[in-house]
Amino acid sequence: MLIAIETSCDETALAIFDINRFLAGHRRRDDLLVSEIVSSQLKLHEPYGGVVPELAAREHLVNLPLLFEEALVRAKLTSKDLSAVAVTCGPGLNGCLLVGLSFSKAFALGRGLPLFGMNHLEGHLFAAELEEEIRGYEFPALALLVSGGHTELVSLKGYRKYEIVARTRDDAVGEAFDKCATLLGLPYPGGPALSEIAAQGTPGRFTFPKGMADRDDAFSFSGVKTAVQREVTQFKDSTDDAALDEAGRADFAYAVQEALVEALVDKSSAAIVKHRPKTFVLTGGVAANVALRERIRSLCERRGVELRIPERRWCTDNAAMIAMAAARHIEKAGWERGFRSALGALPRWPLEELSVS
Ligand code: KG4
Ligand code: ZN
Repeated sequence: MLIAIETSCDETALAIFDINRFLAGHRRRDDLLVSEIVSSQLKLHEPYGGVVPELAAREHLVNLPLLFEEALVRAKLTSKDLSAVAVTCGPGLNGCLLVGLSFSKAFALGRGLPLFGMNHLEGHLFAAELEEEIRGYEFPALALLVSGGHTELVSLKGYRKYEIVARTRDDAVGEAFDKCATLLGLPYPGGPALSEIAAQGTPGRFTFPKGMADRDDAFSFSGVKTAVQREVTQFKDSTDDAALDEAGRADFAYAVQEALVEALVDKSSAAIVKHRPKTFVLTGGVAANVALRERIRSLCERRGVELRIPERRWCTDNAAMIAMAAARHIEKAGWERGFRSALGALPRWPLEELSVS
């Protein structure tokens, strides 16, 4: 049994995965993923309108040992049944990573178990393999990884053959959703709230620029935020009512979503033409956005590419995806690369650094 531990941001997450059965060829997810916990700190950070790193790390420190016990209880196992540990080393918040990493190291060292340092983004990439019957991707693949911290379009020529096609120059798209939502007076985290009201919006009333429209190799979302800020102020000044009414907000939300989603879809479309993937993976928290899913789905249908999107619970941060990435790693590289006592936190750890030639 492998235990995966994820504490890179504001979710404390653990998963227990039957690695031996996986290596023996079993693929039924429910037999392999024997226990999973995701504990969100949303309420803790809500008053601040964003994740406070110091608070998040302290919360992980308190919760992780308790959730570790809980994950074992749910799996009807004891810690003696665990034979390997996989932990997120980065990218993420330094203090948060250190908590998960120190805990994992102590446990692995104390028990003499192999310890695998995993990349959080690679976890997101592999989340869509977690189908009822776990199923690998057909390569070459393209992945659009969109979350509160990341926006990357990645070409996967094979396992650990990753190349960045485009990444954001400034804000992540989830961050842009959240910041624009805040400007419209919506509660934190704003992405889901903004996309909900956007469904009632009228097209054409406002338009916001698509960042880096002339480039296929970069995203930029900070311009949308600035434009929204300007428009909201003008809008408020030009009406008697100081606050945006419901219809106004919906129209704003529609236009914001349109600008953000269109930029993602346009560059995905260009990348599909260029890289001719067999599989397209849409992953990360923003993959929950309905407009984005629909447009990527129709793009993939038009181009004859198989679309893989993780289930909702595995779009956002979780440890099952870390277990999945670790299982693939062990399958390919074996156990011998397991323990690295030098393993440290890597707050910046770009995906391409994982690539093997
Ligand atoms: O992957 P995730 O849970 O955390 C990070 O690693 O960042 O992604 C969270 C992000 C937040 O910015 C949130 O607003 C956004 O995903 N998000 C959405 C939607 N659901 C979550 N953005 C747009 N539309 C949604 N439906
Ligand atoms: Zn994430």
